[in-house]
Amino acid sequence: MVRTRSLLHHAKQITSYYGVNSGNMKLPKRWVAPRRAFLLVGVFCVLCLVILSSRSGKDTLKPLDWHVSPEYKKLVHQHVQKVLERECHRGSTRQGLFARLPASSHMTQPFLWKNTPLSSNLFKYPPPFGFRGLRGKIPSLLQQLPESNEAPLFKTGPDTCRRCVVIGNGGILKGLELGPFIDRFDTIIRLNSGPLGEFSVDVGNRTSLRISYPEGTPTHWLDTDPETVFVAVVYKSVDVSWITAMINKLTVSLWDWLFFWQNVPEEIPLERNRFRLLNPLVIKETALDLLKFSPPTTRLWGWDQNVPTLGISALDLASLLCDEVSLAGFGYNLSQERIPMHYYDQLPMSFMLWQKMHNVNEETKVLKSLIKEGTITDLTGGVHCSFCP
Ligand SMILES: *[C@@H]1O[C@H](CO)[C@@H](O)[C@H](O)[C@H]1NC(C)=O
Ligand SMILES: *[C@@H]1O[C@H](CO)[C@@H](O)[C@H](O)[C@H]1NC(C)=O
Repeated sequence: MVRTRSLLHHAKQITSYYGVNSGNMKLPKRWVAPRRAFLLVGVFCVLCLVILSSRSGKDTLKPLDWHVSPEYKKLVHQHVQKVLERECHRGSTRQGLFARLPASSHMTQPFLWKNTPLSSNLFKYPPPFGFRGLRGKIPSLLQQLPESNEAPLFKTGPDTCRRCVVIGNGGILKGLELGPFIDRFDTIIRLNSGPLGEFSVDVGNRTSLRISYPEGTPTHWLDTDPETVFVAVVYKSVDVSWITAMINKLTVSLWDWLFFWQNVPEEIPLERNRFRLLNPLVIKETALDLLKFSPPTTRLWGWDQNVPTLGISALDLASLLCDEVSLAGFGYNLSQERIPMHYYDQLPMSFMLWQKMHNVNEETKVLKSLIKEGTITDLTGGVHCSFCP
């Protein structure tokens, strides 16, 4: 029973993580033979529980039998070493993306600030592609943010060339012991609650930016890096209230609390000038221009599968902040069901099949071609392994 509950809990986490709601249960119009129906439903439920508990025993609680081959680890280390030591080319990742982006993308700003003028462009699409429907809430949120010149992200000079790495949360990182290599990048971008601590040997201990939405944010803040900046992403109206509360060290109202599908942190222990608001046009650009997804349409329920994952949106953000962008821990190979889905838990990859919000296959295609053409590098080889024999 505990196992079953644990599996159901995981299933809820994953489905809700990706914003899926399988709420299509309908009540039958008439009960023809109520007692028999109840009996059937009862038997069906018992069967489901039996199946779920036997599955959870096999797949989720026992650690997945995952070992990195020493040869692969060595290849990855050599590859990352090369990436870190070769000549750094200024602006190369953004230049590479321009081949796929419209001219307007030369103007994309990574963040919104207190003094950012609110263009009508920002309100064209609903979140996460824009702020449509949030005209009343956004100006007061901007008031809480630092001014652009007040909180520079990093010192830049005419001849600095920044190498950045976006750390995906993929299980492929497990056991590769890339931590010390990752820490050598100039800027380290982490996603959602991707933890450090005991995992530092695989993922490093520095965090330059942590990008997340409320439900994805660690409930207990773990970054010890004094440089860390928190980048908030708005997926729905109530996220704006949460971000405002976090910046001002206030509690979120009970009413707002009802709209989160998972526990959200009550506090982010960072100074005001360490908060950033992601420009939603970065997500719009990622979805519509880079991935060529269709523009959002009005739907009452469900998703168009046109919301990019936070990982690929972070890549687009990184191209605006850095000169060369690398990825680590990316790649969901759905046919390798035994690979752990995340580096920090025991969920098997097969759970990824539950989500309906993102189009992972399309994203993988685009990432693959960006890696092959040299616009970005894949340090761990999960999307495309350029260093495999
Ligand atoms: C990361 O670990 C290194 C080596 O143990 C240490 O010198 C450094 O201060 C740590 N950095 C952070 C941000 O914890
Ligand atoms: C996924 O894994 C399978 C089995 O190991 C492999 O044959 C296939 O090439 C992989 N697919 C991708 C897209 O890497």
